[in-house]
Amino acid sequence: MPRVKKEEQPEKKPRKKTKPIQAVKGMKDILPPEQYVWDHILENSRKMCQDFGFGRIETPIVENTELFKRGVGQVTDIVEKEMFSFETQGGDKVSLRPEGTAGVVRSYIENGMSRWSQPVRLYYEGSMFRYDKPQQGRYREFHQFGAEVLGEDSPAIDAQVIYLAWKIFQKIGIKDVSVQINSIGCATCRAKYKKLLTDYYDMKINKLCVDCKRRLEKNPMRLLDCKEDKCMQVAAGAPQIIDNLCPDCHDHFKSVLEFLDELEISYVLNSNLVRGLDYYTKTVFEIWAEGDDSESRQTALGGGGRYDGLVGLLGGEETPAVGFSFGTERVAEKVMKMNLNLEPKITKDVFLVQLGDLARRKVMKVFDKLIDTDITVGESFGRGSIKSQLRTANKVRAKIALIVGQKEALDGTVIARDMKSGMQETVIVEDVVKEVRRMLRK
Ligand code: HAM
Repeated sequence: MPRVKKEEQPEKKPRKKTKPIQAVKGMKDILPPEQYVWDHILENSRKMCQDFGFGRIETPIVENTELFKRGVGQVTDIVEKEMFSFETQGGDKVSLRPEGTAGVVRSYIENGMSRWSQPVRLYYEGSMFRYDKPQQGRYREFHQFGAEVLGEDSPAIDAQVIYLAWKIFQKIGIKDVSVQINSIGCATCRAKYKKLLTDYYDMKINKLCVDCKRRLEKNPMRLLDCKEDKCMQVAAGAPQIIDNLCPDCHDHFKSVLEFLDELEISYVLNSNLVRGLDYYTKTVFEIWAEGDDSESRQTALGGGGRYDGLVGLLGGEETPAVGFSFGTERVAEKVMKMNLNLEPKITKDVFLVQLGDLARRKVMKVFDKLIDTDITVGESFGRGSIKSQLRTANKVRAKIALIVGQKEALDGTVIARDMKSGMQETVIVEDVVKEVRRMLRK
């Protein structure tokens, strides 16, 4: 190759650093240290649901947009401004699911679950998407764990669902939760109540925020949980749904509360709790973490309620139903602050140590023999120095170090060193599992 004289060499331009690509706004990675917390939350939640007789369901992340428009409701924040919607190449209008209930109900209808033994109890977990303003505890991709009971209208089931949610939080370690509860009645009592409410708000229209003014005509109950200060002041004097329930809804709610009393679950009656989704009827509730940090006061860990009209609305037979879900990020943030020490201490029975390239190849064979057994094995194949490898072996509290140097690699042997006593013996690779087992039994 012709040599280029030094002075003729082109000037080396500093390599321009490529701008790193970041995660989409409002979406985040869940890294290994958080995974211990997530596993803790999800494993306990799944176990509790299974103990309560729920079966797991998975529904697609993408559904026809119409499902959410009809199910969650046209005049809700979610459908009006928070959905990730797009058209497929085939022209179908679809959306990333903003919540889990509508998909579960679609599946109940589509798979003829009304012919199964009722009630049908289902639990689910997965990503949900809402184009919300990102902040602590509020993301554009978040995860929910939820449970739904379809085909039963007894107030005992409402109480049982709240009990299940409460038990899950207890099991996870969030003991200090409060249940806020309300009844928003059925179509009959709600129609009368909405009239009362509209009349009340009509008189106060000048004191309302822009959103509330707009919503007043189509969805007056949403005005009750507007978080704007001036609207909250107006809401404080509004007629209460609880005083306007029909006898059936009144008795149903009373009964739910009696069951909760029996189960010794403390609750707070909140007459302004209406929830942000339109499918609810009768019981609605939210679960809040108690505490004086600002997040505990601002965001609910979970919420749910009865939705007796949704199956019918989505094209199935009229079927009563009730359920709840919690946001896994919010629960994980709470658990993380509690320092529960969930990260498992990594310990290994055996640690592999190699010296040189040939030994590294041979030691992989030893790894292959051990990995299929119940013997736990650690390695640092990337490292060369024996000192640093033995340090790692100590860190994982390995009982035996299996050392392969140049000689052993050629002989097809390994040195097995008892890390505690320092005693060493040479074993042939073929016998390594047998010999390690013998040494571990000592
Ligand atoms: P939701 O109250 O809209 O209800 O959401 C339930 C939970 O999901 C919330 O309490 C919160 O923890 C979490 N969540 C909601 N939005 C976000 C967000 N942007 N970022 C992080 N977490 C969030 C439902 O979705 C109903 N499907 C619950 C239900 C089930 N009702 C009956 N069955």
